[in-house]
Amino acid sequence: MIEREFPEGFVWGAATSAYQIEGAWEEDDKGESIWDRFTHTPYHVDGGDTGDVACDHYHRMQEDVALIASLGLKTYRFSISWPRVVPQGRGAVNEEGLDFYDRLVDELLAADVVPTVNLFHWELPQALQDVGGWPNRECADWFAEYARVVFDRLGDRVRRWITGNEARVAAFLGYGSGLHAPGICDYTQAYQALHHLLLAHGRAVQVFREGAYPGEIGAVHDLAHFVPASDRAEDVAACHRAYEQDVAQLLGPIFKKCYPEGLHAWIGPMKPQIREGDFDIIGQAIDFLGVNYYKTHKVSFDIGQAPLKARSEPVSAPGWGRTEMGWGVNPAGLKAVLLDVKETYGNPPVYVTENGCAFPDKPDERGFVEDWARINYLRGHLRAVHDAIQAGADVRGYLVWSLMDNFEWAMGYGPRFGIVRVDYETLVRIPKQSALWYREVIANNGITV
Ligand code: FCB
Repeated sequence: MIEREFPEGFVWGAATSAYQIEGAWEEDDKGESIWDRFTHTPYHVDGGDTGDVACDHYHRMQEDVALIASLGLKTYRFSISWPRVVPQGRGAVNEEGLDFYDRLVDELLAADVVPTVNLFHWELPQALQDVGGWPNRECADWFAEYARVVFDRLGDRVRRWITGNEARVAAFLGYGSGLHAPGICDYTQAYQALHHLLLAHGRAVQVFREGAYPGEIGAVHDLAHFVPASDRAEDVAACHRAYEQDVAQLLGPIFKKCYPEGLHAWIGPMKPQIREGDFDIIGQAIDFLGVNYYKTHKVSFDIGQAPLKARSEPVSAPGWGRTEMGWGVNPAGLKAVLLDVKETYGNPPVYVTENGCAFPDKPDERGFVEDWARINYLRGHLRAVHDAIQAGADVRGYLVWSLMDNFEWAMGYGPRFGIVRVDYETLVRIPKQSALWYREVIANNGITV
């Protein structure tokens, strides 16, 4: 019996990103990215893991598309590696790199799977970092040129484009805390990097509209839900700052053509340089918003937590504990995020472009994983999406993170997010119980009891 049925045409999918699965880091004239440089520098990543081989998707693309089709996915979200296509970030185009994505798109379409193509999942070409990286305003223009190259090649077949993934993470983990590539710890650079990432998004949308390519274009942001740790004024204020930093700072420029004033007053001299007309570029109409949801945070005032003086702790629904990442599990937070997008930002069409979890998977002797915890996680979050739709949020689709286990950035290959297991010795892929469950969900267009 179907417990929750989703609207007709609801888009079901799964997501990956280039650096996390492709490998072939220097093959066919690919340029070096900041993640290549970062992982090749000792002590940046747990266990010294790198994406040099990853899931070897670059060489197993056809097999992977067959897998995607066998799971009944309606869409597959992947990203394009900028330095694979434009090795130095600007200038010469690498046709071999483009060919790979061209074949991937054709393969997906032949298998009746809609490609959802993301232009940027954190792989800035190292050559551009060498001239300052995202804090350098010119990066936005170089990104727009790269976007045009990709639109020109794939725009006749791709109908759903994402300009970039999680600008907040790229800016604040890359240039603020230094946890991610390029590993810089300087919040002034981070705020400037964010502004230029948003500008790059807007410039790419401009290029897309000017070129009259068919289809839809949007941006993906990771949105968490925030609750104050108490009703004390200092906790409520800290929680508000955290919301402005992680949500309003991203959606404000896009949907309201402004940054949150409170946040900018708080960060004072770290404020980015903004030129006249920037918000008209950033705030152009988009066709959808992609929402990645993983976390709900309980926020308290803490003088030791720069730059916001706000401490965030994970919130879990009763009985859930934490995932392998140390993150809480709170499906109600996803509903809250979707309703906030509806109420505060004008109810744009939304795809949940990432949601998923890493739990310690235990394969049996055949390599099969009975990941009931992941199934419960996904079911809980799908109920939350359904609740949000019932309450009027315009949610058009849901994509699991991730199609397969992969390189989880600074944490290397430890956390496994896939609904398909990857044996990193043999690179064999085996769908987990959750993949079989998800296939049923898709076939029924709903969750069964
Ligand atoms: C998101 C990233 C994705 C993956 C998941 C777990 O922030 O977009 O690449 O690492 O987290």
